[in-house]
Amino acid sequence: MERKQFLKSMGAAAAFAVSFPCLHGCSKDETTDEGGDKEVPTGVDFTLDLNDSANASLMNEGGYVLKNDVVVAKNLDGEYVAASQVCSHQGYDEVRFVSQNGGIFYCDVHGSQFELDGSPINQVDGSPARPLKVFNIELSESILRVFE
Ligand code: FES
Repeated sequence: MERKQFLKSMGAAAAFAVSFPCLHGCSKDETTDEGGDKEVPTGVDFTLDLNDSANASLMNEGGYVLKNDVVVAKNLDGEYVAASQVCSHQGYDEVRFVSQNGGIFYCDVHGSQFELDGSPINQVDGSPARPLKVFNIELSESILRVFE
C-alpha cells in the first residue's frame, strides 16, 4: 500500500498525528533540549476580559489564548477550559488546544495528547504518561477568572 493510500485509509486526524507528530519540536529534543524542563505554573490566579480584542479568539469554539504559561480555550462545546502550557512529558511550553478528536490539549514537541481534564491519552517515548495540570474557570459577565 502506498503512503498516500495508507494515510487516506487512516482518516484525516490519524494521518495528521502520523504525519506531523513533531511539527517543530523533535529537532529540539535531538539537539539541545533548549526550552524543555520549564516549571509547571503554580499559584495561578488571573483574569481575562472577553471584551478585550487580545482575547477575541476565546469567542470562537476551538479558539485559545496563552497567558502566564496557561492555555485558556473555548472547547468545542462552548465551555471554557484551562491547562498548563508546560507539558507534563518533558516540560516544553508547547501545549495548545486543538480541535481534533473532539477537542484536546496537544503538545507537538513529541505528540502528547491530553483530555480536557488533563488525563493523558497517549504515551510517548515509552515514558509513563503523566496528567497535564488543569485549572478552574469562573465566568462573571465578560470576565474569565483562571485559578487553582
Ligand atoms: S514535551 Fe514531549 S510531548 Fe510535550
